[in-house]
Amino acid sequence: MSESWHPLIAEAAFPAEGKFAAQIAGWHVLAVRDESGTYRAVNDRCTHQAALLSGGRVRRGAIMCPLHGARFDVGSGKCLGRAYPDLRVFALRVTGGQIEVCLPGTPPGPAERPVN
Ligand code: FES
Repeated sequence: MSESWHPLIAEAAFPAEGKFAAQIAGWHVLAVRDESGTYRAVNDRCTHQAALLSGGRVRRGAIMCPLHGARFDVGSGKCLGRAYPDLRVFALRVTGGQIEVCLPGTPPGPAERPVN
């Protein structure tokens, strides 16, 4: 099944703290606005032990996992230091003031779902 675009949040409503998490079509999505104002989105699931990343701090384009401190570049999904596999990255776009995210047509598998 192919990917499709889904509404995420109005750009004007994006939190000032620079991150927004939502569950859409079964996927946990973490969207981040970096220092340059660019929006990025990754699967909201640490590749170490499946923690939600959205509780972590964003700094210089990287999210820090709140559980053990792994850091991931939110643009590329790469684990800084390469201790763990990279995050899955989703495409984002802003259309008419609405931020949309492009998600796979199939729901996430066990290796893509966070432990809540
Ligand atoms: S669960 Fe994220 S660093 Fe361990």
